[in-house]
Amino acid sequence: MMEEDLKLVDAVCEILDARIPISSRNPDIDAICGKKPRMVILNRIDMADPDLVSRWSSYFKAKGMAVIRTDCKSRKGISTFAPAVRQLLSEKLQRYAEKGQVGRSLKLMVVGIPNVGKSTFINQIAGRKGAKAENRPGVTRGKQWVNVDGGLLLLDTPGILWPKFDDPEVGMRLAYTGAVKDDILDTETLGCHLMELLAREYPQALTERYKIDIPAQIDGWELLQAAGRKRGFLVSGGEVDTERMAKVLLDEYRSCKLGTFTLERPEELQ
Ligand code: G4P
Repeated sequence: MMEEDLKLVDAVCEILDARIPISSRNPDIDAICGKKPRMVILNRIDMADPDLVSRWSSYFKAKGMAVIRTDCKSRKGISTFAPAVRQLLSEKLQRYAEKGQVGRSLKLMVVGIPNVGKSTFINQIAGRKGAKAENRPGVTRGKQWVNVDGGLLLLDTPGILWPKFDDPEVGMRLAYTGAVKDDILDTETLGCHLMELLAREYPQALTERYKIDIPAQIDGWELLQAAGRKRGFLVSGGEVDTERMAKVLLDEYRSCKLGTFTLERPEELQ
């Protein structure tokens, strides 16, 4: 379906989760889009690491894509969308102008994995709250187009891409952020892996929140135990309830109580 819709648009706008720009991406998108001009929308910047968001922005720009950064909850970055599209498609606009087609609209499509923020983004861009989309049967029967800004039309139905689970690490990162339900994975295992990842990338945050020291040899299970002990999560016999601690860690990570982190770096793709 997306390939069909692609024929109708001038550019594809791919929404990524700024906390996990690799795992929230379906790698098939490059093949599906071919030579279509592309934009990457790094969303949820309110929950991500600002330095890494900047580096990811440079990474995608170096690949020739337009990049904007948004927090769809607070509307941050939303107003940069229209100018960035016009810049990306400036040659096309120039050609329209030369042919005298001054009022001709640019058509766009938003794609992304479930829960990345597509509907919220479209509603914000269109300045509506679930309002009715403009129906333009002359363009394609049944397709709904949203008028975004004088001269920009957005396909109302976003393209849904499925994340790729071939790599178990990708599945886990999607579970950390809550993009996939964590009941498909064991909470304790997930907590151990997240603990290790955070201990490597953001040790200070763990030390501050859980009052634990991060040793040179990182072991997620031991850190989970240490944090659980500090929190007093003990079961009979004085053992630490690591399952409970794992759940707390996941909840606190997701609600940004530990801080705002990005779990993937552009270097991983090189
Ligand atoms: P989708 O169409 O891609 O499936 O995603 P959708 O827009 O439904 O967004 C999924 C959830 O993510 C929503 O929360 C939405 O508010 C939230 N969200 C989207 N963009 C951002 C962002 O930039 N920052 C933050 N913090 N959250 C974002 P929800 O819990 O399902 O609904 P609600 O709590 O907003 O009512």
